[in-house]
Amino acid sequence: MSVAQTGSQATSRLLSGAQVGIPPRHMNFRFPEAADRYFFFDNNPLASLFFVVLSGIFPPGERFFVESVRRFRDRIDDPVLKAQVAGFIGQEALHGREHDRLNDFFRARQLDVDTPDRFVKFGLRQLERFSPRMQLVCTTMMEHFTAHLAEQWLTNDEFRNSADPEMLKLWSWHALEELEHKAVAYDVLERIGGTAAERRLAVAMIAFFMLPPIVASWGVLLAREGQLANRRENARGLRLLLGREGFVTKVLRHMPVYLKQGFHPSWQQTQALEDTWRERLFGEYGELNEEFRNRAALACA
Ligand SMILES: [Fe+2]
Ligand SMILES: [Fe+2]
Repeated sequence: MSVAQTGSQATSRLLSGAQVGIPPRHMNFRFPEAADRYFFFDNNPLASLFFVVLSGIFPPGERFFVESVRRFRDRIDDPVLKAQVAGFIGQEALHGREHDRLNDFFRARQLDVDTPDRFVKFGLRQLERFSPRMQLVCTTMMEHFTAHLAEQWLTNDEFRNSADPEMLKLWSWHALEELEHKAVAYDVLERIGGTAAERRLAVAMIAFFMLPPIVASWGVLLAREGQLANRRENARGLRLLLGREGFVTKVLRHMPVYLKQGFHPSWQQTQALEDTWRERLFGEYGELNEEFRNRAALACA
């Protein structure tokens, strides 16, 4: 064994996610009992239930992401990418844990968060019939979507100003970390030689297997809440999310770039945004310093 090899293995043992800018932050959020039922987006049921659906699908979705990347971990020699993968896995696992807690809060309020969970698991089971390699490609597609969703979470003032500030905390933390690790799954895919044709197939697979269960569960939630016939509010909610300048519309506009020749997640330039939010959430007077449990451990790492 050469000295260079020994040195590289020692580095790979030493580097942690925190050292490569992807620290898995343990958080402990509290959810205020006094929060409005439709705490997101201007007290609008349809728009707020979209976020309940998202929270319902995150834990199973993120477990799928983690598994699809973990399977290729042994094929990575680069110590930095290895550490980024460790950071990615740690961050996604903790997102799932905190969303599980938020989903318990929803359940206690009789908000049917189990339907999106069940529906999305059905979609994920269909993806799991494909090769591990194709599952990783699907993860890169969904991470691309999540990264742009995260950018909206952090920059869309109309959304931020109308949401319950206490409830926003979890989403701000999650969004920042999505941006911090947005390139990891894709970099793993590049190491194993992912192709443009595979990316096109992944888009079709997500549209076919994932989109219908998500939309259907949103409809079920609306029905369970007795809001399906609330035409005025539903029209307003659709405008907030899918209007010309709607929250989801702004995310969807960035989806085609995923299929461009030479695409890389770093095309989405978010460094300044990440710096601003790291300071705002975890800086000297950070908004989330009280909830941040493992700052000292990460600093030691
Ligand atoms: Fe996440
Ligand atoms: Fe992610």
